[in-house]
Amino acid sequence: MFETLTEQPADKILQLMQMYREDPREGKIDLGVGVYKDATGKTPVMRAIKAAEKKLWEEQDSKAYTGLAGDPAFADAMINLVLSDSVARENIAAVATPGGTGAVRQAFELARLAKSDVRVFVSDPTWPNHVSILKYLGIEVVTYRYFDGETRGVNFEGMVEDLAKAGPGDIVLLHGCCHNPTGANLNLTQWQEVVDLLNKTGSVPMIDIAYQGFGDGLEEDAAAVRLVASSVPECLIAASCSKNFGVYRERTGLLMSIAADASKTKLNQGTLAFLNRQNYSFPPDHGARVVTMVLNDPALRADWQAELEEVRTSMLGLREQLASELQRLSGSDRFGFIAQHRGMFSRLGASAELVQKLREDHAIYMVGDSRLNIAGLNKTSVPILAEAIIKVGI
Ligand code: LMR
Repeated sequence: MFETLTEQPADKILQLMQMYREDPREGKIDLGVGVYKDATGKTPVMRAIKAAEKKLWEEQDSKAYTGLAGDPAFADAMINLVLSDSVARENIAAVATPGGTGAVRQAFELARLAKSDVRVFVSDPTWPNHVSILKYLGIEVVTYRYFDGETRGVNFEGMVEDLAKAGPGDIVLLHGCCHNPTGANLNLTQWQEVVDLLNKTGSVPMIDIAYQGFGDGLEEDAAAVRLVASSVPECLIAASCSKNFGVYRERTGLLMSIAADASKTKLNQGTLAFLNRQNYSFPPDHGARVVTMVLNDPALRADWQAELEEVRTSMLGLREQLASELQRLSGSDRFGFIAQHRGMFSRLGASAELVQKLREDHAIYMVGDSRLNIAGLNKTSVPILAEAIIKVGI
């Protein structure tokens, strides 16, 4: 039977990770995969996570299964972090998932279960795996304009024009904050316009929030998702703990499904549990449990927030340093957008050839669409990158 298998398309981000690992050059710079690195190039276990893990090791006396939805305390803690009290808890069904990707996958499956011919509108560009999973599931993908290649900001007019074409029951996938891969984001006035449009067309928002706390702050980064979730009848939210808790390999995420009317929650909850059972049965627990411990313990939570804030401000500092270095070298403001963007990524807007040149001539690795991971930089590598960008002619 295996002879019928054909080669599957490689994931561009993971492929780049591999190429970087195999590059023997000293001083190579990895700005590829979206993983936070500190100034020494390490992806640390956050202090509060380490402390919670220690406590868990000491106190946990069973590894018996949790429920299909995971530990309800995890759902409560994450709902509180993402939505605060913007939506009544009784209207929210939620299940733990293996990472944000698990939540995204389950959300797409739920949408297809509800509407077999569902279409999913995705930003152009979006995280490549969104499109890959949708294609794999046989769900129709429609792109809406998002990134403006000239300004490197959002082409809001184009976005609104394209989203007006979504129909009742179509899903509109939005990035809650820190857009991946561009770093360009909507302001709250624009979010309100999107909400009005969703309500006008009857399309259903699905919000992927994987970088809460990496943009303007924990509360600020949740403002859009809270606005949307509290203003539309139905909404799906895929939240990841990978980045803001630094628990990447533990696969920790939550899918929320919000109904207009609390009487639908039981059915939604049952459907989400069913989908978990079909795909992997019980979701992973370790990451979810330590995240819950951190969020529910005031001292651990305060320490986590302080460390997350250090991460956020260090990335902002690197953005500013890179923008000003490029301003000095280019004698122009054309790289000012790097300081305006938020989150882990910025899209430079350079051709694939120039990105390849950066890799081949300067051992600088970024994704082919010119997305760079700001957290892959440090104070010393910023001037090296800036010089290389100018040298290759970006
Ligand atoms: C990224 O966009 O680099 C991250 O979300 C990691 C991944 O799984 O692609």
